[in-house]
Amino acid sequence: QIELSLRPEMLRQYIGQEKTKENLRIFIEAAKMRHEPLDHVLLYGPPGLGKTTLASIIANEMEGQFRSTSGPAIERAGDLAAILSSLEAGDILFIDEIHRLPRSVEEILYPAMEDFCLDIIVGNGPSARSVRLDLPPFTLVGATTRAGLLSAPLRDRFGVHSRLDFYDTKALCAIVERTADIFHVGIDTDAAVEVARRSRGTPRIANRLLKRVRDIAQVRGEDVISEKTTKTALKMLQVDGEGLDHIDHKLLLAIIDSFRGGPVGLDTIAATIGEESQTIEDVYEPFLLQMGFIQRTPRGRTVTPKAYAHFNREVPEA
Ligand code: ADE
Repeated sequence: QIELSLRPEMLRQYIGQEKTKENLRIFIEAAKMRHEPLDHVLLYGPPGLGKTTLASIIANEMEGQFRSTSGPAIERAGDLAAILSSLEAGDILFIDEIHRLPRSVEEILYPAMEDFCLDIIVGNGPSARSVRLDLPPFTLVGATTRAGLLSAPLRDRFGVHSRLDFYDTKALCAIVERTADIFHVGIDTDAAVEVARRSRGTPRIANRLLKRVRDIAQVRGEDVISEKTTKTALKMLQVDGEGLDHIDHKLLLAIIDSFRGGPVGLDTIAATIGEESQTIEDVYEPFLLQMGFIQRTPRGRTVTPKAYAHFNREVPEA
């Protein structure tokens, strides 16, 4: 599967996130020297920055099996107990969106993470009793969009906390060139830079844009993707010069036009543009904040002069 083969398999192939890589490299090496599993790892940051990729790299580097699930997929304590009891020594259990685990399920994780054991209740009524099962040593890798969404007891049980940041243009450009290589297609440096610049600091977006750009280059009979084709493609995809898409535009223009630049609450913005508050907060806002298009204030979100300038609008008088 193409999607899978785009993912780097080892740490040395992974581009960017230098701080996270440097830390993981040391922790992995030390754990291997001690013949112990790696401490549990919490990865947090906006979607598309490589949390799942890093988790599978950890499994490869530790030479353990990669087992993957997600918070919303585990509805009952028994579901998690079944997964935990099927683990083998040295496995890497990846739980994506771990902040969405139900609280009753989360409580099963505490003794599993701390003491590698599983407390289960057998029977019911007066004959019910708790049985403790030993688990093989394993590493839990949890991923979440924001560490603050996790309950404190769960967060505290991770020995390693790593925040993934948006990638700079240089790193994204290297990723675009790597992906083009995997697709066996050439790409001009200017074209790669253009895709990188407009990918909101996010490899998943860079790779998605590259696929569409490649389609257009292909039907145009280009064997090396040019900057001109790239610009045309990005225009068709409604990605503007700063990488903002149709929904970013709707969001910023809603604050500008309907709320005189804000402050306005997140839920009000969400209702106005017909998106989920959670999606806005996790997917759209982090990049708009980082780029300085919006600000969070105690009374809600406001757009900045930079946002007005982006749409060639005058900042209204106070
Ligand atoms: N593909 C997607 N993300 C990547 C990364 N960080 N390094 C290398 N290839 C990638």
